[in-house]
Amino acid sequence: SKSYNTILVETRGKVGLITLNRKKELNALSSELFHEVNDALETYDSDSEIGAIVITGSEKAFAAGADIKEMRDKTFAEVYKTNFLGHWGRINDIKKPTIAAVNGYALGGGCELAMSCDIIYAGDGAIFGQPEIKLGVIPGAGGTQRLTRAVGKSKAMEYALSGRPFTAQEAEKWGLVSKIFPKDQLLGEAIKLAEEIAGFSQPAIQACKEAVNSAYELSLKEGMHFERRLFQALFALNDKKEGMNAFVEKRAPKWTNT
Ligand code: CAA
Repeated sequence: SKSYNTILVETRGKVGLITLNRKKELNALSSELFHEVNDALETYDSDSEIGAIVITGSEKAFAAGADIKEMRDKTFAEVYKTNFLGHWGRINDIKKPTIAAVNGYALGGGCELAMSCDIIYAGDGAIFGQPEIKLGVIPGAGGTQRLTRAVGKSKAMEYALSGRPFTAQEAEKWGLVSKIFPKDQLLGEAIKLAEEIAGFSQPAIQACKEAVNSAYELSLKEGMHFERRLFQALFALNDKKEGMNAFVEKRAPKWTNT
């Protein structure tokens, strides 16, 4: 596999693992790091052997946010003309499921990167937050949008306006995080879930992700319509025939991703 400066990539069976690797800087999300994450995501997304992707950091930090040292001297004209952080949105076009395995700090852009993944699993000591207000700015990669959709207005306002951190236990209770594990078991559990997902028919998984994501964009009526049309469309797959035949014949299905 490719070698990068700020991340590590390895495949575990059908799972692509991306480990943020600027340990000393608490995985501060420099421009180089985010470009490398995008490249790794897009490489896994186009690799037919890969069925799901896990993004993780270190035990101390998933990521402590955008790189403040890189941002401190930037001017409005510069960030506006270059659409600074615009490329962070490329993760939204990844078709395969993404799981964030969060230990330690997920602050600012780190929290936003985790929220850009499809599922968040957290270690029991993980700390989340949108502390941008303490730097004289606001979240710039979805913090005011995704956090609000995930936890509701009052909590999103409280935490974005105060910059206060919140715990893995709070995040799990509010539904931002789906499960918490002891920190040394977190990555194994995230990979286990990713392997399970990667074991299903890829086009069905892709349609499922697309349908859930449409719940953020569409009215209930349009969303239900879109879901039913996708459901019906999957009847064109060989894997639909195989999955249902296997059930009736009491055997394991052999997916061909067609
Ligand atoms: N950018 C650049 N460097 C960072 C960083 C960041 N976001 N977070 C930590 N670092 C660096 C520190 O400067 C320090 O470097 P030096 O050793 O060279 O001084 C090193 O990482 C270790 O950090 P600390 O010494 O601060 O470690 P700590 O254990 O005392 O504190 C922490 C940990 C509470 C996470 C603290 O580092 C911190 O508050 N970090 C900044 C968090 C933050 O404000 N994030 C939001 C960034 S803005 C943003 O993300 C915008 C957006 O919406 C996209």
